[in-house]
This record gives sequence, C-alpha cells and structure tokens, in this order.
Amino acid sequence: MLKEVLKINILNWIEEEFKPQFCTSEEFIYDDMESQSGYSLPIIYKTFDGTKKSHWVDRGHLYDFLYSTKGKGKKLLDFGPGDGWPSLIIAPYVREVIGLDSSHSRVETCIENAKRLGINNAKFKYYSAGDKIPFDDNTFDGIMAASAIEQTPDPKKILKELFRVLKSGGQLRISYESLNEYKKGKEKGIWIAELKNEKCRMILFNRNINKEFVIQYGITLATSKQELENVLSKKYDGISYENITVEFLDKIKNQIIDVNKLRTTHPSGKTYVKWLEEMGFKKVIPSYSGGLAAANLYEHYKDDKKIKEVESVDKLIRPTVKIVSHLEAPIEKNPPITAIK
Ligand SMILES: C[S@@+](CC[C@H](N)C(=O)[O-])C[C@H]1O[C@@H](n2cnc3c(N)ncnc32)[C@H](O)[C@@H]1O
Repeated sequence: MLKEVLKINILNWIEEEFKPQFCTSEEFIYDDMESQSGYSLPIIYKTFDGTKKSHWVDRGHLYDFLYSTKGKGKKLLDFGPGDGWPSLIIAPYVREVIGLDSSHSRVETCIENAKRLGINNAKFKYYSAGDKIPFDDNTFDGIMAASAIEQTPDPKKILKELFRVLKSGGQLRISYESLNEYKKGKEKGIWIAELKNEKCRMILFNRNINKEFVIQYGITLATSKQELENVLSKKYDGISYENITVEFLDKIKNQIIDVNKLRTTHPSGKTYVKWLEEMGFKKVIPSYSGGLAAANLYEHYKDDKKIKEVESVDKLIRPTVKIVSHLEAPIEKNPPITAIK
C-alpha cells in the first residue's frame, strides 16, 4: 500500500516537474528506435535456429497468419509492421503484401529489410495516424494486425477502416496485447528502450485494466540503455518500477533530454469481439494461437536432432497450426481473433 502511494507520487512528480505533453505512439517510441524488435527476429535478422523456442514460435505465428487470412497466393495488408513482421516472413507464400505504418522510421526499416532479404513482393507505405487508410474499399483479400491496433490513437476507427479495405469474404486476423496479463500487481511497470544515437528512453507504465487504457511516461536520457541498466542494477538493486524514485530521477536529472506521455486504448478480447460484430463482420472467432501451438510442439520435440532445420520444423508445426488457428478458444485467455467480412 505504501509503495503504491509512493508510485502514484512519482508519476505526479513527473507531471509537476516536466509537464509532459501527450503525443502519438510513433512520436513516443517507434520513430526513435533503430530496430523495433531489438534485431531479434528470426529470418529477418537472425538465421533460423531450431534449438530456440522463440524461433519455433515465430514460425507458428507465421502459419497462423497465413491460414487465418487464407492468404496463400493472395494480396494481404499488414497493419503496423514494425521491422517488417509478419510481412517479410509471409511474403514467400502470398502474391503481394503491403505493410502500412504511421512511423516513417519503421517504414524505412521495413523497406531496407525487404531489400537486404531480396523480397520484392512486400511493399511498405507510410500514412499519417488518424488519417483515412490510403486504400480503396475492398482492396485486400486478407489483413493481419500484430500488436498494432492498440498502438493507434483510435482503435475502433482503425477497425472500421480495416473493414472498409477488406474484400467481402476476406478475413482479418488480430493479435493484441491484452492488459489481463498485468493483473495482480503488474499494473505499473518499467521498460528501457534503446534509441538511436546512444540514447535510451525509460518508460513507466500505468495500466488501467478495467477501463482498458494505459498511460506511459517516456523519459529520454542522454545515455545508452546499457549504462542506465548498469546504474540501476548496481546502485539501486535492479531494474524495477519500485526503484524509480524522486531521489533517483533527481540524481539523473542532468541526463534527461525530454519527457513526454502517451495514452493508448487496449481493448480486451471481449471488447474486440463486440466492436467487430457491431462493425458488420459476419463472423468473429477468437481462436488458439499458432505461436502457442508451436511452443508446445517445441517442448515435445526439442531433443529430436532431426527436427532442427526450418523445413523440418515447418513440416511438423504446419498441420497443428492449421487446426488450432481455427479452433475456438475461451475469450478470457485473450486469444487472437479472426473476423470474417
Ligand atoms: C508493437 S509494434 C508491432 C510491430 C510488428 N507488427 C510486430 O509484431 O513485431 C506496433 C507497430 O504499429 C505501428 N503503429 C502505431 N500507430 C499506428 C497507426 N496509427 N497506424 C499504423 N501503424 C501504427 C508502430 O509504428 C509499430 O510499427
């Protein structure tokens, strides 16, 4: 309880001290990151490594998006691709994929990655957040949105726009960050993001789970992520929200370049289903995640030396993902959602 009071105070203190202004998510973080994924993505940045669970999970997500959108040989939209995920890994299976992002920096990164990987059927386009999506009605056979809708200024408006540009009979597959996983004491949190030019941003999260929104405070520092982590680990006993005190912020004050804030809406699975049905989607199905299926398969087969190459891993996980990504899942578990127009 005491800690809680102190933490409310730290956010109040930041408000009072720096008078941060609200900005969009691309201004808050996406424009300033060299890599949105920390250069971790298999195939896009790293050679596929079948000994790693995360690499199996990535393949699971890929086939989930492919099957859920019925995208094979079709034209897909990837809304909010970040570093080009999943556009660049799905590209070999589809006719064309267009990644649409409101961050110039992310679009440039996607284009560079496509070029480096020799992928010609993945195109990336910038548009200004809040504008109409720059495509005609009924343009896409299928749409993917991975952890992106909740980053936009108005998720409901974006879903309406995605409905408009999706062809009749087309399928939209959404994966999203649900706030449910932060229940029981994880409502407040910290993340340190590495930025371009040896800078970092310390982000403090204040999540309102019931009201489905998050306020983030971003404190930009003229120091690298590594240096800040070292200071927090050595002098302040680790990187935790509780360690960000007035005393600590005061100590690093001369390193602070600016402070801003972001408010994002995080619809729960239930809210997504309600909105999508209201919008006119014929069928809305929360279903199991291909990524989760791949993670479980990894646990069963991790000691099998014959299943390590991407081809053998794919061969194993494809049939399972094909089934589970169509299998209805309890909404309380925040499964990805398919909406059919
Ligand atoms: C959490 S990242 C997800 C990136 C990628 N889909 C992935 O899963 O690795 C969110 C992405 O959404 C983009 N974004 C934020 N607001 C947006 C908007 N209004 N329209 C389109 N993209 C947006 C960000 O720039 C960023 O690339």
